Amino acid sequence: MASDLVRFSVAIPMGLLEEFDEYTARRGILTNRSEAIRDLMREKLVEDELASPDAEVVGSITMVYDHHTPDLTQRLDEVQHEHIPQIVSTMHVHLDHCNCLEILAVRGRSADVHDLADRLLGIKGVRHGSLACTATTSSMGHHHEHRHE
Ligand code: NI
Repeated sequence: MASDLVRFSVAIPMGLLEEFDEYTARRGILTNRSEAIRDLMREKLVEDELASPDAEVVGSITMVYDHHTPDLTQRLDEVQHEHIPQIVSTMHVHLDHCNCLEILAVRGRSADVHDLADRLLGIKGVRHGSLACTATTSSMGHHHEHRHE
């Protein structure tokens, strides 16, 4: 990101500006309009980047499932063995007698990471699952999420 700041003026309706100020105030962390607008611009750029199937992304896939579901753990394993390049690390937590929480750190082409997430979260018996990912290039710092609940 270029570090030189430039100023430009923008004409917008008063009502829109007021709504925007209220929005940034609600978010609490942003201290001024410039920062808020920079933030939104970066967010849109990352969104655009992520829309490309070839974008390089990093992220996590989170799943909760009942390990008693017939064939479920075997099918989860099979899918993961077919996506070795995309899976950096996995964590498995036995939540209680039935339920497991599994978290996968993933990276790679956006299309491959989304394909992996769709295949895992689409397996019958996966109760809650989500993919959160962010682009690794220029506009790093924002993420988007897909939830399947
Ligand atoms: Ni378990």
